Amino acid sequence: MTSTLPIALITGATGGLAQAAVAQLKHSHQLVLVGRDLSRLQTVYGDQHTQLACAYDSLTATDALIAEVVSRVGHPTVLLHCVGSIKLGALHRLSPQDFMETLQTNLHTAYFMLTAFVKHLRLQKLPGAAVFVSSAAARIGTQNHEAIATAKAGLEGLVVSAAASYAANHIRINAVAPGILDTPAAAGLLSSEAGRAMAAKQYPIVGIGEVAPVADLMAWLVSDQAKRVTGQIWSIDGGFSSIRPLVS
Ligand SMILES: NC(=O)c1ccc[n+]([C@@H]2O[C@H](COP(=O)([O-])OP(=O)(O)OC[C@H]3O[C@@H](n4cnc5c(N)ncnc54)[C@H](OP(=O)(O)O)[C@@H]3O)[C@@H](O)[C@H]2O)c1
Repeated sequence: MTSTLPIALITGATGGLAQAAVAQLKHSHQLVLVGRDLSRLQTVYGDQHTQLACAYDSLTATDALIAEVVSRVGHPTVLLHCVGSIKLGALHRLSPQDFMETLQTNLHTAYFMLTAFVKHLRLQKLPGAAVFVSSAAARIGTQNHEAIATAKAGLEGLVVSAAASYAANHIRINAVAPGILDTPAAAGLLSSEAGRAMAAKQYPIVGIGEVAPVADLMAWLVSDQAKRVTGQIWSIDGGFSSIRPLVS
């Protein structure tokens, strides 16, 4: 029997946050899980859900991804773009390649994915919702975050501007902006007890973020409960980006 559930694309689906988003949405949506490598997707999900490969590195690639989703499953109306990376280092320690790769992974993939998604929705005259993942470091100067802050600030600009362009088409576009999360992307920072303690104390609400509450927020943003919400960046960062407790 054909499912009547809305079709949701989850990109970067092998990642820690994406896996939490899959757990959150799997009963309310028909899921299409996207990664660069089908065998890694299969290792994580077995034969559950539709699994597709995409490098998100050109419009040709993301248009082809949407076309394949349509032919295999139907018209996607929800996008959770969970692709990203963390590359830390002050400018003098970053190579041009580190910087450009960080832009490619965190900003350019989002541009290619969102462009293909809104193009498809507009052609089909369908409403839709997309959520992207920014970072607490996008809006407050944080030591060693030059590359990722540049990429995520660009992503936030893309989100709010595209939200304005497509509001009349009933396409909602938002982002969440977490602080550090316990996922493979942060493994280098969190691999030792000392590293975890150091990371945790950077936050006014001391601690390391968990993926489930971020995935819950993303699920809410694509739900009908959020049908009046667009062009917003939702911080979920223990207060890192907006408050400064007095130090005694
Ligand atoms: N973890 C944190 O502390 C933290 C904090 C703030 C924001 N974020 C953001 O949260 C989002 C989810 O990350 P995560 O924490 O879940 O990390 P993760 O477990 O490392 O997942 C990231 C995913 O991105 C994909 N990816 C990495 N580089 C890519 C590239 N160049 N092209 C295409 N896909 C690529 C990988 O998928 P495949 O290799 O399987 O294709 C991977 O599954 C990212 O946007 C990240 O920047 C994370």
